[in-house]
Amino acid sequence: MKKILILGACGQIGTDLTLELRNRFGEKNVIASDIYSKNEGFLKDGIFEIIDVLDKKKISEVIDKYQITEIYHLAAVLSGNAEKNPMKSWEVNMTGLFNILELGVEKKLNKIFWPSSIAVFGPSTPRENTPQDTITDPNTVYGISKLAGERWIEYYNNKYNLDVRSLRYPGLISYKAEAGGGTTDYAVEIFYEAVRNGKYECFLSKNTELPMMYMDDAINATIELMEFKKENLSIKTSYNLSSMSFTPDEISKEIKKHIPNFQITYHPDFRQKIADSWPKSIDDSLARRNGGWRHKYNLSEMTEIMLKEITKKLN
Ligand code: NAD
Ligand code: SER
Repeated sequence: MKKILILGACGQIGTDLTLELRNRFGEKNVIASDIYSKNEGFLKDGIFEIIDVLDKKKISEVIDKYQITEIYHLAAVLSGNAEKNPMKSWEVNMTGLFNILELGVEKKLNKIFWPSSIAVFGPSTPRENTPQDTITDPNTVYGISKLAGERWIEYYNNKYNLDVRSLRYPGLISYKAEAGGGTTDYAVEIFYEAVRNGKYECFLSKNTELPMMYMDDAINATIELMEFKKENLSIKTSYNLSSMSFTPDEISKEIKKHIPNFQITYHPDFRQKIADSWPKSIDDSLARRNGGWRHKYNLSEMTEIMLKEITKKLN
């Protein structure tokens, strides 16, 4: 019997992932956890534990208490926030990961999912159609922690035969929870501000192109990756994953099709430099070959859903 523990479940991805895992595997088999409790929505309906990923003893107790077989480790500090407090962010991102990897070996967990990011790439990486294997020279604390994490999960896979799986998510766009302090957050905020005020001041410049994905595609890719036969997976670090790329100008034009008076202005801040070091588009052909990955949503479909759902939510 599968018993899943999600760490960082109150965040942007955790909110959607917890709901979908509970749908697929049953409410009693999916234990959500975070460093704080949201006391709303999905948390009311299922099992929830307060867990700080730096508290290895507590994680160990919860694994034993529920006879956990799989972990989705989502707790992290994202790119924008990490630059504000580099050492603390390094500790959460790295010590948190080590605690899970060590417990994975100790408790003989069946599988672990840990997300990586397009942030593993850096200023010298080819920016168009970035290949799976290429230069990785991240210059943010977040990107360095993701690159180090990729090397460590490969090490645990090889040395201890621990089954850790990973995707390099692009910027994710969703409406159930707010975005958590990343550089791609503008593409979530823009929808809220379009619905609330009909205008948005963007912290990236007009033509900054980044790889992005609608959350439902990311959740499907994640759960599918965890269900694949291990023998079919040739990558022990993290798979490139992609669906669309766009600029703030392009997303604002898409929003204008629904809200004709929508106005966007530009006031780039420190996150512009981070965005300028990341790819514009990603080659994910290996994920498509190894796992049969196919995305479903494009920019116009996503825009329609986001505006509809956020309007409902804010009403
Ligand atoms: P988020 O910031 O929305 O959520 C992270 C959650 O982790 C939060 O609920 C936070 O409370 C929790 N957390 C922080 N410190 C903790 C600690 N010490 N102990 C326990 N919980 C703690 O982030 P997200 O967007 O949901 O991202 C989840 C994972 O996916 C992260 O590893 C992130 O790097 C990765 N990722 C996200 C994106 C994206 O666009 N959202 C893209 C690439 C990779
Ligand atoms: N969306 C994430 C961020 O901007 C990418 O990992 O930090």
